Amino acid sequence: MKISVSILKSKLPRSKCIYDVEKTDADFIHVDFMDNTFVKRSTFTKDEVLELFKNSNKDLDIHLMVNHPKEYIDAFSTLKRCKYLIIHSEINHDISELIEYIHFKGKKAGIAINPYTKVESIKQYLENVDYVLIMGVIPGFGGQELITSTTMKIDELIKIRDDYDYHFEISFDGGVNDDTIKLLDGVDIAVSGSYICMSDNYQEKINTLR
Ligand code: DX5
Ligand code: ZN
Repeated sequence: MKISVSILKSKLPRSKCIYDVEKTDADFIHVDFMDNTFVKRSTFTKDEVLELFKNSNKDLDIHLMVNHPKEYIDAFSTLKRCKYLIIHSEINHDISELIEYIHFKGKKAGIAINPYTKVESIKQYLENVDYVLIMGVIPGFGGQELITSTTMKIDELIKIRDDYDYHFEISFDGGVNDDTIKLLDGVDIAVSGSYICMSDNYQEKINTLR
């Protein structure tokens, strides 16, 4: 299982936290981006993200919790290490068109589903996406408790992927720690934030998760 570190909630100032994550063997940095639309909160601005990650030594999976992703796809696809751009399935947009747009920008496309969104509702997109992000918590904040019913979606997605020979990776985001990781069998990428970044030893926590 690969580990992606969410830097949303950390003890350290953001740039120091990123610096420390870069020194670990984490596979990705998970960038949670919000602009006060899809969730009523914003963290960093578009320009701050570009600045913080322009020289990243880790691949990035960028989680766009926004209602209108296009301008952010334009901006963040310029980042060399941006690997996945993930949009939310619940937004009022032509999702297929956005997936195509991310591919057109040369990046891998991901789709995220909120805790109470059913896998069924994204079935039509699964052929074309590279990454499916299962939210284990309501988007907006780090440090929430994992909603266990969301873990049922892992097997559902694995079954669809096997049945249709699709290629997407399955990622799980929210409430992942040394205890809940046991519920994530079959996941390709576990995103973990506060469990790692609120600690004093990032690598030790990553080792425990692995
Ligand atoms: C929630 C974010 C998550 C979150 C994960 O809106 O999408 O990525 O930061 O943080 P933890 O691991 O603390 O739940
Ligand atoms: Zn996230």
